[in-house]
Amino acid sequence: MRTGFGCEGALIRMGGKPVAAYRDEAGELHLRSAACTHAGCVIHWNGFERCWDCPCHGSQFSVDGEPLQGPAFTALGEVPGAAEGASPSASLHDEHTRP
Ligand code: FES
Repeated sequence: MRTGFGCEGALIRMGGKPVAAYRDEAGELHLRSAACTHAGCVIHWNGFERCWDCPCHGSQFSVDGEPLQGPAFTALGEVPGAAEGASPSASLHDEHTRP
């Protein structure tokens, strides 16, 4: 039975850029650029549908960054250094709460 426990997405910051981070059931971390490929808005985690949503025009992306719904039709960008184990530095949530 799949509970979904532990499968979460969050926005983080790496190298000064927003990154969409998702940890799957096996504990593997999936990192993609958080910039929507339609017009560059920052996507948000949709915990109900387990995908990334763009608040600007409604595009949705899978946990691996593949487009699920337009208007965006290309995948979220790769994160430089993600394969080498670069570590995220801070949550964007924290950043948004700063003055
Ligand atoms: S900027 Fe994301 S759907 Fe338009």
